[in-house]
Amino acid sequence: MITVDNKWKELGYVGEPIPEGTDLKAEIRRMCKEKNAVIMAHYYTEGEVQDIADFIGDSLALAQKAAQTDADIIVMCGVHFMGETNKILCPEKKVLVPDLNASCSLAESCDAKEFKAFIDAHPGHTVISYVNTTAATKAVTDIVVTSGNARKIVESLPQDEKIIFGPDQNLGNYINSITGRQMVLWHGACHVHERFSVEKILALKAEHPGAKILVHPECKGPVVRLADKAGSTAALLQYSKESDATEFIVATESGILHEMQKACPEKTFIPAPPNDSTCACNECNYMKLITLQKLYNCLKYEWPTIEVDPEIAEKAVRPIHRMLEMS
Ligand code: 13P
Ligand code: SF4
Repeated sequence: MITVDNKWKELGYVGEPIPEGTDLKAEIRRMCKEKNAVIMAHYYTEGEVQDIADFIGDSLALAQKAAQTDADIIVMCGVHFMGETNKILCPEKKVLVPDLNASCSLAESCDAKEFKAFIDAHPGHTVISYVNTTAATKAVTDIVVTSGNARKIVESLPQDEKIIFGPDQNLGNYINSITGRQMVLWHGACHVHERFSVEKILALKAEHPGAKILVHPECKGPVVRLADKAGSTAALLQYSKESDATEFIVATESGILHEMQKACPEKTFIPAPPNDSTCACNECNYMKLITLQKLYNCLKYEWPTIEVDPEIAEKAVRPIHRMLEMS
């Protein structure tokens, strides 16, 4: 049977045509008040989506906020796993993601069944999963982490603890390098962060010698090693606000530049170019699926909703709570 949700996914359905002249922003805010809904947005979404949100954050802050909200509806302007995390934390609430096609290549690079087989092949290991995973993968995990707390959580475990880390091998390698651990890594990656080029960043640095280089640790090792600051989106934003530098080369999804520029209008933020300059490869095509029109329709019709199998949710909530307690 085609339900409303999978019909939306299969047909790319975004709701009824919106009457001409509708003030989308005013209507979205009105519906939020009327329905006691909260809009959360990740830094990688379009600027106009970030601007209308009640709360913008990195993956960690978004999960922390969801765990605390007293809203009846959470609209997650981000990718599917972020909506799932919210639903797992707040099963009694309605959680909406304006376009269910907003997936994540990193989450997709870690099939839960294959990950379970990998875990079984490494008995006696604690399993740490990056938050960019499906609910089913979280359900076979001991502790979830984000790029904002991975180092702290890994370092809080005994030095000799055997650890599996998945799915992002770049983040895993980075955490191994700064903690001296030898975590066993799953070989997943994000298609956006893998594409940044050392040569192109160095060429930009030659043009802007005073610029600080900001890198998300999902980038490959040689790119991360160029960084003046490596960290989560929130950490990079914070650094750019506190730094005396006036120019920054930013090697992460370019949506973050919106908030950086808003916070520091007098500073210059230069998006790091990807290997292939013929495409907008430093944009996450999944995040960019979230538009104001879809947000409007999703609030109006209260779908598409995120649903998580209760059995999976019961298992997946434990490693997420562990992360929130350890953060
Ligand atoms: P943050 O946790 O830094 O917000 O990153 C999420 C993400 O999807 C990075 O690609
Ligand atoms: Fe996933 Fe990469 Fe997009 Fe982040 S940027 S949501 S890791 S596909």
